[in-house]
Parts: sequence; structure tokens; C-alpha cells
Amino acid sequence: MTDGTADDHFAPILEGVGQSDYERYLRTDELLSLQKPAAEMAHRDELLFQTVHQSSELWLKHACFELEAAAQLVGDGSIAEATRLVGRAVLGLSLITDQLAMLDRMSPWEYQEVRKVLGHGSGFDSPGFVEVKRVTLLLGQAFQTALDTAGVSPERVYRQRVEYGDLYALAEAMTDWDGSLRAWRYRHVLVVERMIGDVVGTQGTPVDQLRKLLSHRYYPELWQVRTRLTEAAGT
Ligand code: HEM
Repeated sequence: MTDGTADDHFAPILEGVGQSDYERYLRTDELLSLQKPAAEMAHRDELLFQTVHQSSELWLKHACFELEAAAQLVGDGSIAEATRLVGRAVLGLSLITDQLAMLDRMSPWEYQEVRKVLGHGSGFDSPGFVEVKRVTLLLGQAFQTALDTAGVSPERVYRQRVEYGDLYALAEAMTDWDGSLRAWRYRHVLVVERMIGDVVGTQGTPVDQLRKLLSHRYYPELWQVRTRLTEAAGT
């Protein structure tokens, strides 16, 4: 209870740095010091570049947190709850895909100033994307075990959607996830081509290699099932 004064109502009660509980809880002091100060920037677009990358890493961290829990839930038989978490991860990925548009707003010539200070930094070392690979495979394994336990193939789940409602919903959420990863990659290649053209990346990787990754599927069986359904329908 407060005595009704504004001071009491807004006074911080949490431990930590900052004038308010908002700052203390969110640790805004540390968070907002994670970008280069203007005086140290090689180009002012470094703030934009760092903001997009850092927030991408945060959303990826969250998506992987959800996906790992989803894999665990599938193992425990809580398929519907797992599906809900995969849906959140998909939404997170779509947020970081959309924000790539911010990088289109850099000038390719001026971006070269930013590029000079990246050292050997490469997206292949993104902790978020390294973790994405691990948890995506983990969920794939949990799904396969769930299919084996139920004694069904993906095709049967899709043909008998109502009977296997939970597995069907999970399979569709996982298809969303796999598709979202491809959509991110496609959008990323567009930014890369727009900023640096068709040259060799910071770790000597040709941009062409990024294009090849576009066809990668983490859950190939969930895409193949559609081909089999079309063939079975004979249309
Ligand atoms: C101006 C913007 C960007 C440029 C020019 C760019 C450039 C590149 C290049 C050239 C590569 C190939 C590897 C290398 O040689 O470094 C790459 C890979 C990669 N980049 Fe970027 N990038 C940009 C923005 C981003 C952002 C915002 C992210 C988000 C975390 C990101 C994540 C990745 C990842 C994960 C890879 C590995 C390839 C893959 O898994 O598809 N990049 N990037």
C-alpha cells in the first residue's frame, strides 16, 4: 500500500541500476551502452547496423528458447502447447525478416565505411543462427519420435487431418518455421546484393554460396509430403 502520493507510487522498489524500476528491470543502462558511441563510429550508419543485428540476435535467442521448450513438450506428449511456442518463434523470425528493410536504407558506398570496421565478422558466426540449427534439428527429432509413437507417417497425418489434429497443427507450424527460415535467407541475400553486390564476403565466402543455401530445408519430409499428396490426388 502507498500513502497515495505520486512519489511513493513511482519510487523504484527493485534492485539495480537506474532511476526507475523500468530501467532497473530492463537493464536499459547496459542495453543502451552496447552500441558504439557516436564519437567512436566510423560512419553514423553503424548505429543502424548494430541495432538491426543486435535485435536480430535477441529475437533469435527468444525463438530458440521457445523451440527448445517445444521439443521438450513434444517429447512429453504436450503437442498443442508445443505448437503454440513454435508459432511464437515463427512470429519472431518474421519480425527480424521485416527489419532487414532498414538496411536497404543505407547507401552502398557509405556502407563500405561500416564494412571496414567489421574485422572478420561474418553472419556464419551469429550465435543466434548457430543455435537455430541446433534447436530446429532437436524439434525435428522430437516430431519424428512422436510420429513413430503414434505409428503414423506425415502423409497419413495430412490425409487424416481431423483424426491427427494436434500432430497436423504441429507439422504446419514446423512448416511455417522452415519456410520462415528460407524467407529470412532470401530477404538477407537481397540486402547483401544491394549493399555489396556479388563479391567475396568477409570470410572469403562468395555471395553465391548464400544463394545456394536458399534451397536448404530443415524438414524435407514436410515438403515432400505435399508432393506425395499431389501425386496421390492425380490432379
Ligand atoms: C548490410 C547488411 C548485411 C550484409 C552486407 C551481410 C553480408 C553477409 C555475407 C557476405 C555473408 C556470407 C558470409 C561472409 O562471408 O561473411 C553473410 C552471411 C550471413 N549473415 Fe549477413 N549481412 C548483412 C546483414 C545481416 C543481418 C542483419 C543478419 C542477422 C543476424 C545477418 C546474418 C547472417 C547469417 C546468419 C549468415 C550466414 C548465412 C546463412 O545462414 O544464410 N546478416 N552475410
